[in-house]
Amino acid sequence: MTSASLPPRRLSVAPMLDWTDTHYRYLARQITRYTWLYSEMINAGAIIHGDQDRFLKFNEGEQPVALQLGGSEPADLAKAAKAGENYGYNEINLNCGCPSPRVQKGAFGACLMNEVELVADCIKAMQDAVQIPVTVKHRIGVDRQTEYSTVRDFVGTLSQKTACTTFIVHARNAWLDGLSPKENREVPPLKYEYVYQLKRDFPDLEIIINGGITTNEQIAAHLQHVDGVMVGREAYHNPMIMRDWDALFYGSHEAPIEYADLVHRLYRYSRDRVQAGGGALLRHTVRHYLGLMHGLNKARVWRRMLSDAALLKDNDGSLILQAWKEVAEANGLPYEADGPL
Ligand SMILES: Cc1cc2nc3c(=O)[nH]c(=O)nc-3n(C[C@H](O)[C@H](O)[C@H](O)COP(=O)(O)O)c2cc1C
Repeated sequence: MTSASLPPRRLSVAPMLDWTDTHYRYLARQITRYTWLYSEMINAGAIIHGDQDRFLKFNEGEQPVALQLGGSEPADLAKAAKAGENYGYNEINLNCGCPSPRVQKGAFGACLMNEVELVADCIKAMQDAVQIPVTVKHRIGVDRQTEYSTVRDFVGTLSQKTACTTFIVHARNAWLDGLSPKENREVPPLKYEYVYQLKRDFPDLEIIINGGITTNEQIAAHLQHVDGVMVGREAYHNPMIMRDWDALFYGSHEAPIEYADLVHRLYRYSRDRVQAGGGALLRHTVRHYLGLMHGLNKARVWRRMLSDAALLKDNDGSLILQAWKEVAEANGLPYEADGPL
């Protein structure tokens, strides 16, 4: 996709460490053509000093895809952003929302919400280095900052001092003291009204809402107030929720993908990966498929087979087809929809 033909960010799948790697994104892209996909957060330093192919390479057809960076050194972020652009990412996103202690030690992630001048410097440095959009993902505040003015001033300052026009807002605070990252996704209360207010106060900015959104009805309701919705955990644990997104939110007239077709594509993808060598194992891809049959009969059998270490150790992709046979038969779905294997 060229930048001119990119769809709007009406729907996106959130960046999730260890989850939204290129294999998950391949799966998501088979289900939805237009939804934006975000990488896991990758440290700017790791890109500069590490194996760039390992961190940045992605599958053909994965776009629109954004690279999320972690860091607070403008020069490093600029270099990492440039590398991301060279690999073909369509957007660079700066993480200002991650509360993990490891991230706090490096003074980035959610603590950056307290250092808006530094964030502005980081964004400007990246914008000088790349042509693609640079966006920010952040919370509505840190620790006990419960006033709306915290997030309003953060967004207001950045939109004045930089050319950033897209803000992705996880609609809860990050509590840096005393809560684990997991608790920080559940305990601080969601305040969607703050995000709606941002859109009213900054109508020219693209405001995307995130946090606790799990149904298509909720997505449609949020889209009455903001420009886009980002979904994290639900898109991972129940990927088929994305099946109707192109039709519902992008006006597509194409039929949604059938389970059988999807399973055969995933089978071929996993098989080819393993055959290509380079240390690729079947479990690297299938671990992302466990939630695929959510809501169908024998979803548990599917999950159990694809996470069984004894079955996985042969690295034989046909395990996917064996598990699918169980589910297909239990739900009256075609088993060999895609012709001969
Ligand atoms: C396993 C996991 C890893 C995450 N890693 C990141 C990350 O790397 N960068 C980031 O900005 N947010 C990260 N998040 C937060 C999500 O992007 C998202 O903001 C959060 O899960 C709320 O959205 P949801 O309720 O739709 O899941 C992570 C969340 C989970 C569950």
